[in-house]
Amino acid sequence: MKCMMYEFFQGFMAEYGHHPYYVVVDPDTGNTHSVLLFNSNAMEYSTFTLPDGRPAVTLRTIGGILDFHIFTGPTLEDVNKQYAQMVGLPAFPPYWSLGFHLSRYGYASTNEVREVRERMKAMGIPQDVQTLDIDYMERFRDFTYDPVPWGDLPALTQELHNDNLKLTIILDPAVVIDWDNYPPGQRGKDADAFIKWYSDIYIPSDQDPTCRDYVIGYVWPDTKTVFPDFFKPSTKAWWKEELNIFYESVAYDAIWIDMNEPANFGTNLDKPFNWPSELPDWSLKCPYTHWDSPPYPTKFIRVGDNESGRLSDHGMCMTVNHTDGVKNFMHYDVHSLYGWSETDATFKALQEIFPGKRPVVLSRSTYPGSGKYAVHWLGDNTSAWSHLKMSVIGMLEFNLFGLPMVGADICGFFGDATMELCMRWMELGAFYPFSRNHNAIGQTEQDPGIWPEVAEVSRFVLNLRYQYLPYLYTLFHAAHMHGNSVVRPLFSEYPTDLTALDVDDQFMWGTGMMFAPVLTESTSSRNVYFPQGLWYHSVPGFLAATGPSTVLANAPMEAILIYVRGGAILPYQEPSLTTVESRQNPFGLTVALDESGSASGELFWDDGEEEHAMSETYFATMSFAANSLNLVVSNNPAPMTGLNLETVRFYGYPADPALVTVNGENLDPSQWAYDADYSVLSVTMSAPLDQDVAVVLS
Ligand code: GLC
Repeated sequence: MKCMMYEFFQGFMAEYGHHPYYVVVDPDTGNTHSVLLFNSNAMEYSTFTLPDGRPAVTLRTIGGILDFHIFTGPTLEDVNKQYAQMVGLPAFPPYWSLGFHLSRYGYASTNEVREVRERMKAMGIPQDVQTLDIDYMERFRDFTYDPVPWGDLPALTQELHNDNLKLTIILDPAVVIDWDNYPPGQRGKDADAFIKWYSDIYIPSDQDPTCRDYVIGYVWPDTKTVFPDFFKPSTKAWWKEELNIFYESVAYDAIWIDMNEPANFGTNLDKPFNWPSELPDWSLKCPYTHWDSPPYPTKFIRVGDNESGRLSDHGMCMTVNHTDGVKNFMHYDVHSLYGWSETDATFKALQEIFPGKRPVVLSRSTYPGSGKYAVHWLGDNTSAWSHLKMSVIGMLEFNLFGLPMVGADICGFFGDATMELCMRWMELGAFYPFSRNHNAIGQTEQDPGIWPEVAEVSRFVLNLRYQYLPYLYTLFHAAHMHGNSVVRPLFSEYPTDLTALDVDDQFMWGTGMMFAPVLTESTSSRNVYFPQGLWYHSVPGFLAATGPSTVLANAPMEAILIYVRGGAILPYQEPSLTTVESRQNPFGLTVALDESGSASGELFWDDGEEEHAMSETYFATMSFAANSLNLVVSNNPAPMTGLNLETVRFYGYPADPALVTVNGENLDPSQWAYDADYSVLSVTMSAPLDQDVAVVLS
């Protein structure tokens, strides 16, 4: 038996998220199962190989309940569905959030954002979302904006909206204790919203007398902070109210919640790295208790990247209290749930602020079940080729974890990206489910407009993404309804293919598209593994390979290799610069024939942003067999009214047809073209998609 287990680190780092979960594939039978240890205590793990060659994993937890769940499959997609149905089905992202997001830490002002935005427009690069990091805040205080360089943030928001763009803003959990000068904090104190010590005996002797029994730490702001206890009903109500009040001045569309492990700077050290130099040294210091200094020190303490040598390094003390209003929980037991609790509070608050709409909450920390509320990026990476490669694995992992809306910081966060790296990263990142270019403060610019060469490639790959968004959206709908993955490893479809089992530098969107990015420097070709079946170049549609086979493919700098699997019908729409516009464009279908000349697919459609009963949404199944393409509308045709099917491209079609009919009417021969060299037949028509469509080739 072979064990497919993804992991980055051997359990010695404090991670952003906690997913004690593994998947096993038996390549002899293809049978797949998975195991979750549903436990939120500190844990360490090791993966290794037994002397007889079998793979093994050890998980050690230092508390809580040994609550194991086994998902029996038998396929990986069955496992994914069983898992997501147990921990919580993924949120259905609004259509606009599938567009391209641009972000950075270190924008100096609204005007700098305008400049970057103008560059994107001038270069004709699609973009749906502009993201603002902590720069927009006044002294890094949540629910404020800096009156000088960001004083016209409401106007910028309006300009973005006029351009059909959305605005995402960041919020950190830490709230400054400058009560008199910071009304959101004072209102939080009135609601008693902050994390307290588990017992008065742990309150430090230098406790600020205005802070009751709250735990005091230090993060980005220049003042000490407290941390909301998001489990608590009064905290949730306060948080929602603050989101509401701030929305009155800045009409954001989505919230990015960061630092929610929770991170605290300098815990147990003399002082945080960013502590004001004029003040005497200070930091949050955790007491020496059984919980804060557990008898079994996990790897993170023993051998990890741990400055203070303690479990609370860079974070919260274990002896603090959370409450849901009825029960108390010690941080020791629920540390890994903090991010989850903030996601829950934020998602539900946004549901009330945008009634009927589907919220977008981007969270750094996640736990099993976070996908119900959260979109996720893989955290602070580096502009390095190794991190480009690792992002494919991370994206596949989070699709196993029920968080399909995931991506890495495109072009890398820390470090300066070279043009070549950024170009390759835009090529891959254009096909992350969550596609966002983000950069750290102080690094050279890396937005896709900054290098003309990267701009051109970005325009091309993002146009391709936008073109196939109807397909991606349909996959997200299946994820939301049933728990399917969106991005998949090859072995998901070919579990008994020993070669496919080891491929971690290619991935699929659903069952129909396969991507083979270039992940190394100065590379102009790469081996692509094609599992069994026919595989076509996505553009212009000729046969690339018949699998199983490995092909050394040309991979020029400006291209990512994308293939369509024989047997798939992929819905698409002409791309535009935003999804607001692309959603109005004509539809098309790519019909890629398998060895028997057949193909099938699905198309989901709705207004793109509201909650709907299934009966209010559009769903169509498409099938091609015996020279006849049938699109059959089920559910509700209304969301498609006014939208037409205008092109169908048949890949692998053997001959020029003598006659093409659409819904029983003969097409004029000028309406189709057959390319005999490529075996591609392109048909144009105008068939309303709110009705069934039949295309017959004879
Ligand atoms: C954290 C986030 C990063 C963000 C920065 C400043 O490091 O992970 O994405 O840019 O904080 O808010």
